[in-house]
Amino acid sequence: MESECIDLLVTDPPYKTISGGCKDGKRTKRPKGILKRNSGTLFAHQNVNIYDWMPEVYRILKYGSHAYIFTNVLNLTEMLNESQKAGFKLHNLLCWEKNNCVCSQFYMKNCEYILFLRKGKAKWINDIGGSKTVHQFDNIIGNKTHPCEKPVDLLKFYISNSSREGDIVFDPFCGTGSTLVAAKELDRKYLGYEIDKEYFDIADSKLNSILVQ
Ligand SMILES: C[S@@+](CC[C@H](N)C(=O)[O-])C[C@H]1O[C@@H](n2cnc3c(N)ncnc32)[C@H](O)[C@@H]1O
Repeated sequence: MESECIDLLVTDPPYKTISGGCKDGKRTKRPKGILKRNSGTLFAHQNVNIYDWMPEVYRILKYGSHAYIFTNVLNLTEMLNESQKAGFKLHNLLCWEKNNCVCSQFYMKNCEYILFLRKGKAKWINDIGGSKTVHQFDNIIGNKTHPCEKPVDLLKFYISNSSREGDIVFDPFCGTGSTLVAAKELDRKYLGYEIDKEYFDIADSKLNSILVQ
């Protein structure tokens, strides 16, 4: 891809997760459920190297653009360090507060974190003074098309705040296409990559079912 061709990055990349969970308040080491089916990972292709992709997403973003990168607490330091090494500046650490939670002995986990970054000079969000740091959106419970599927409304919120109609939104790890669906519904252009053919096909069919006005 050419340098500086993308207006906005919104992505939920593969990162390390802890296998196991807890039962009756006690930690279990054995992978459970979906982790067990994929030999301890949430999905098949989880070993992409942040040192490879972070400088590349920085390169292709236009100067003066925003980036939203999902992370969990375990990967937060590495994700932030690598983004800053690539050249990104941190605007804020955003928090998606969910309506469900994951069992933990170290406080139950009911949120996910999003690095809100910029390339180049600071650019304001579109809803200045109206958008706070913690965002409440319902998670998708049951019937997920991807184990890490994100709610389209959450992604629309970020895309609305950091782009305009006709801009190109990029998700290099698009899964079943939540970011791309959000972009298309907001009349943005979109570009996504997905290595798993099954997820790619689901994303493709979701996008094809959105009517363009
Ligand atoms: C955390 S998931 C994203 C899920 C997405 N947020 C959604 O709502 O469907 C990350 C995705 O990156 C994909 N992936 C892993 N390595 C990749 C690579 N090298 N190129 C493209 N996609 C890759 C995985 O198959 C997985 O579907």
